[in-house]
Amino acid sequence: MLEKDIRKVTEGAYPFHMPGHKRQKEWLEGLLDLDITEICGADNLHAPTGIIDESQKGAAKFFGVKETLFLTGGSTVGILSAIAAACEYDDKIIIARNCHKSVYNACIINRLKVSFVYSQTDCALGCAGGVFPRDVSEEMDRSGAKIVVITSPTYEGIVSDIEAIAKEVHTRDGILIVDAAHGAHLGFNDYFPKSARSLGADIVIESAHKTLPCLTGAALLHICTERVDASAVKRAVGIYLTSSPPYPIICSIDRFVHKASETDLFSSYKARLEAFYRVCSVLTKLKVIRTDDRSKIVISTRGTSINGFELKEILLRDYKIELEMALPEYALAMTSVADNDEGLDRIATALADIDGKISACEKKPFYLPPKPKIRGCFTENPPIAAEPVPLESSAGRISLDFIFAYPPGCPIVAPGEEITPEILEYIKGIINMNGQILSDGEFFPEAVRVYEEKD
Ligand SMILES: Cc1ncc(COP(=O)(O)O)c(C=O)c1O
Repeated sequence: MLEKDIRKVTEGAYPFHMPGHKRQKEWLEGLLDLDITEICGADNLHAPTGIIDESQKGAAKFFGVKETLFLTGGSTVGILSAIAAACEYDDKIIIARNCHKSVYNACIINRLKVSFVYSQTDCALGCAGGVFPRDVSEEMDRSGAKIVVITSPTYEGIVSDIEAIAKEVHTRDGILIVDAAHGAHLGFNDYFPKSARSLGADIVIESAHKTLPCLTGAALLHICTERVDASAVKRAVGIYLTSSPPYPIICSIDRFVHKASETDLFSSYKARLEAFYRVCSVLTKLKVIRTDDRSKIVISTRGTSINGFELKEILLRDYKIELEMALPEYALAMTSVADNDEGLDRIATALADIDGKISACEKKPFYLPPKPKIRGCFTENPPIAAEPVPLESSAGRISLDFIFAYPPGCPIVAPGEEITPEILEYIKGIINMNGQILSDGEFFPEAVRVYEEKD
């Protein structure tokens, strides 16, 4: 039975991954029997006027925004809705290249004309860094697009200068949508960076289930400024939200808001993280990196005999510690207010032990995917004559599909982009390290669909 199988998978393991409730009773107990439907007196998330309306208004006050909408299908629903609301069919839009696939999907659904801004490479980690405000303004001026979507913080906890980006966007009469799926916990303690909610972004979307102790699927769409047409956002949410939003998910958001309003959950969380970082500062080979958002524990394996995937595997196999994700140069542990001292001690001890067993080893740095050669926008109709070719011999061909490393779920190649020899090398590098490559709904694809360029 699936239940039994899942219990077997999680038994004895400490979860440094989402959901942020970390399976702690305090955050889960009593939610399941609230699984009702829109019965008399229970209000309706699709058009709230009663208890849900009251709860959302309380949340908006707590998060310091004009309006907060609860979502039960994750940030994915928030992103699809925000972009649909902000754009007319065929509009121009600028998205950060490292955006999540839901942003790309929203562009496809609305047939948008997309151009990219590229984040800086974070050289310490070999991952995407922040987006420069100047790159946003230059791309707005060049393309004439008025809608901008960027991700901040990133999976790894790197933030962009949202205040400056918002200024550039607003000067040009545009709308800034921030995918803050990883940032629902920001803004409650100075230890963490400021939230995009308070820095001028117009719409901010957050996955409450990732970094807050809420049920999977719980997310928030914040309307932060007068520039946003709130009715259009609500209409779009009405399309993407399930017609039966689960009450336990909504209640898990409300429970967090109430507890965090009554108790300071974040000071003890900060102290726990600080103690962890202090202990780990003596590691000699592994490096525990403090990115902007220190809730994300990023453990760099650069210059060691193991890669990020291997570190994740060793932690699970030998120490029963489950991390959130790994990439070639690092592995990532997600924390939340629901973690405890025992969990952080356990990972600190494990890392010290592993540090003593591995050796230093110079390796070629593994950076971001090479920039794509864009031959057509991924939202354009693909030509009919597509053919599958073995991944091995796909260099120089134009992809019909997205090719992702999963996680983090940002495309290495989008439809209409050429699979250059450098990109193929990058993809093969990830596969050789047992990282997951996903294309056309298949992990580790042996073939990819490509097509000839139209005249
Ligand atoms: C940056 C980013 N945005 C959006 C999402 C989608 O969030 P959700 O899983 O809550 O739908 C993710 C999920 O991993 C993400 O990493």
